[in-house]
Amino acid sequence: MTAPVRSAAAVDEREIVNVNLGARSYDIVIGRGVAGSLGERIAALRPGAKTFVVTDENVAPLILPAIKQALASAGVKTDSIVVPPGESSKSFPVFEQVCEAIVGARIERGDLVIALGGGVIGDLAGFAAAVVRRGLDYVQVPTTLLAQVDSSVGGKTAIDSAHGKNLIGAFHQPILVVADTALLDTLPIREFRAGYAEMAKYGLLGDAAFFDWLDANWKEVFAGGKSSEGFARDHAIAVSCRAKAAIVARDERETGDRQLLNLGHTFGHALEAGCGFSQRLLHGEAIAIGMALAFEFSAARQGLCAKAEAARVARHLAAAGLPTRIQDIPPPLPSTGELMELIAQDKKIKRGRLTFILVRGIGDAFIETGVDAAEVRTFLSEKLAEQ
Ligand SMILES: NC(=O)c1ccc[n+]([C@@H]2O[C@H](COP(=O)([O-])OP(=O)(O)OC[C@H]3O[C@@H](n4cnc5c(N)ncnc54)[C@H](O)[C@@H]3O)[C@@H](O)[C@H]2O)c1
Ligand SMILES: [Zn+2]
Repeated sequence: MTAPVRSAAAVDEREIVNVNLGARSYDIVIGRGVAGSLGERIAALRPGAKTFVVTDENVAPLILPAIKQALASAGVKTDSIVVPPGESSKSFPVFEQVCEAIVGARIERGDLVIALGGGVIGDLAGFAAAVVRRGLDYVQVPTTLLAQVDSSVGGKTAIDSAHGKNLIGAFHQPILVVADTALLDTLPIREFRAGYAEMAKYGLLGDAAFFDWLDANWKEVFAGGKSSEGFARDHAIAVSCRAKAAIVARDERETGDRQLLNLGHTFGHALEAGCGFSQRLLHGEAIAIGMALAFEFSAARQGLCAKAEAARVARHLAAAGLPTRIQDIPPPLPSTGELMELIAQDKKIKRGRLTFILVRGIGDAFIETGVDAAEVRTFLSEKLAEQ
């Protein structure tokens, strides 16, 4: 089945969020059917540019034909490469293939790379664009919820090293993001839920009203239906992109505020790594548990956050079908010692102190640099001992 990509004329509702980075500013175009306008948008931004699409084997049969047509109808020339799906494509061998294919297709300065897929493709194609011919412009066409609300925005690109995830990469901003929310209709529900965790994160870290809205409308977001705000899914994606764009505009290279986006990620990364980055626990699922733990940890910590708020967060995520407790992960579970080891690797404990994103409540996260590693250990062993 090929997902429908409607023509630009059929698009009745769309939102444009600008990522304000001076000369490197760009638009995120969000809405059902907006991929149909991809060719026209590219022709307007870079008249005469050729394009090279990087995508994966799951996305190609569903979406590539319509994307090629959208480009051809605007007179935009294109070539493509299809790589295997999954994290294993963020590797040196696949990266090499992608770079060589771009060069082989005679893509030159002034031409464009298009990342068509989830976060894996965005990171891989974006990094190839950052280095081929010392830097090519690129466009993100995210096709997973996680990519539409998170990875396609902000210019972080990377592949994985034998030493860890995302260790080889570059900051390289796209020149355009086209987030067609109808493309998510074919996404497996488990992947949709995982992306939803990152969406809920924006409410939890800085926008209590958005969290309230999600609490009331999350079913419409999943269904892609209408709410009082128009298309609920489109609205929620636009709010998420606006939140990420604002943070990225303040702190492009993650020296300050951008760290807030790591809410739930210290616990989450340790759990993901503890499960060997397997299908047992997707990134977004790990982040759902991580956020629930960050709220509980904050509540346990001299009552920094009300216990009722922590309970509400867990209730919401669980209602949406996400795991919220370490025990929700299919066994075997990592031990406290293993998790502490992984947290230390991820974050570097300095003199027994860790940097954590903690919360005073829903919508009120902050960076805490002085968290005692021993306190985290005690908390995790208590959590693991729960039935
Ligand atoms: N650069 C950043 O700022 C950033 C932020 C968060 C995550 N990431 C990275 O993103 C990656 C995870 O991204 P992801 O969750 O999108 O995973 P993914 O790209 O692997 O996509 C998940 C699965 O869905 C399939 N798929 C994609 N679109 C589809 C569609 N429309 N219909 C049906 N199937 C579809 C893919 O083939 C894949 O099997 C990780 O590598 C992570 O490190 C990067
Ligand atoms: Zn994440």
